[in-house]
This record gives sequence, structure tokens and C-alpha cells, in this order.
Amino acid sequence: MHWIVCPDEKSQAKACASIIAAQVLQKPSSVLGFATGSSPLKTYAELIEMSRQGAVSFSRVRTFNLDEYAGLPRDHPQSYSRFMWDNLFSGMNMREDQARIPNGMAADLDAECRDYEQAIEDAGGIDLQLLGIGHDGHIAFNEPGPDFSKFTHVERLNARTVEANKRFFDSADDVPRTALSMGVGSIMRARRILLAASGKDKAEIVKEAFLGPVTPSLTASILQFHGDCTIILDREAASALTYN
Ligand code: GLP
Repeated sequence: MHWIVCPDEKSQAKACASIIAAQVLQKPSSVLGFATGSSPLKTYAELIEMSRQGAVSFSRVRTFNLDEYAGLPRDHPQSYSRFMWDNLFSGMNMREDQARIPNGMAADLDAECRDYEQAIEDAGGIDLQLLGIGHDGHIAFNEPGPDFSKFTHVERLNARTVEANKRFFDSADDVPRTALSMGVGSIMRARRILLAASGKDKAEIVKEAFLGPVTPSLTASILQFHGDCTIILDREAASALTYN
């Protein structure tokens, strides 16, 4: 694994955005995997700025998002679809046909998951996948469990995840209890992975996930087995790491 520790969140976001932009400059038709949550927000603002300045064009990329809440329409203020259009895609002038996000309103969610997995494969696989990490070590919505999920699937959210994500909703009761999520297998097939974490509250889980044993009870730990994974942290998220 590669490690980048930045002095603060701003420089972390700039570094993250530069890596994504470099990928697109090298391969303008890149397939990018994007994440939601607060971790990538500043990175997305940087990418929009780079695109506005003409430093990089996203006109040929295709994107796949990690996950979506089940039961929220695309235009729901808390849907991940809305999050991506509000915080990234509109600012980069992306076309609807470039961006795929699981449809949480599909009549048959299992069929939607299969179609989604197939669409990633048909696109040639993901060149660069951006990830955040949940407080229990989940990536996308792959909660801790007895084994690693292979493919896009319907996942039941843990009480802790519902608690962490309720800040975006009026109350915890409004947070959907299930989501469609790429599997750990889908994520591990990405050619490059960039996991971003910031803030003191992520310090312990970062240490456990990437310096501890690989186990499905801490999903992100599997990334230790990926051939090209970069962990990009601000100083606070790196504060529990010891280098001896
Ligand atoms: C959600 C998302 C994850 C994200 C996690 C952490 O559970 N499904 O993809 O990594 O939140 O979010 P944050 O970056 O806000 O801490």
C-alpha cells in the first residue's frame, strides 16, 4: 500500500483531486468510481475548479458510484444520486449518460444489482476507485460480517452507520435501513484504489484497518491485499499510526 499524509484536509483534497485528474489526463476515457460522504467533498470541489479552469476535461469519463439508499428516489435531497449531481457532476458539466448510480427505486433490487455489476464489466472495469471509510471500517456500504461480499448487493445497514448518517436526515427514523452497494469483490477489481480519510474520529479505524489483520469484521482491511491502493490522510486521521 502507498501512504500519503497531508498537513490538513485542504491539502489532502488537493492531492486527491490531482491523482484523479492525472488519471483522466493519462486516459481521458477513464472509468472512475466515486464515493459519497463528507470525506470526498473538498476533493470534488477541487475537481470542479480544475475542470472550470480547463486543466482537465471529464467529457469522456464514465463513472460508477459505490452505493445508493434503497427506497429513495433519485431527486430525494439525501439520495446519493442527488449528492453526486449537486457536489460534482453538475459542476463538471457531466451528461446523464456518463454517470451510473444504483437505482434505489428499482422494482427488483436484486436484478438492479446484477445489471449494475454487469454494467461495470461492460465498461471495461473501474480504472480508479475513490473510497471513504466508515467508523466501523465499512467501505461503500459493506458492513462488518462473517465474510466479504463479492458483488453488488442489497445490504442491511448497521445501527452505527444509521447513527453516523442521520446527520443528513431530519431524524434517525428517516435514514433508510437498506442500501444497494458494490461488493468488496467489485471494489477489489478496480485497477487503482484511493482511500481518503480525515479527522481525529477516523484515526483508530485507519490504524486497525491498515496495520491490523485482514478480516471481514473490518471490511476495509481487505485493501491491504490490493496491488495498487493509496491511503491518503490528513494529519489527524494519521495520528494513531506508529511507524516502528
Ligand atoms: C457512508 C458511505 C461510505 C462512506 C462512509 C463514510 O456510509 N456509504 O461510502 O465512506 O459513509 O462517510 P464520511 O466520509 O462522511 O465519514
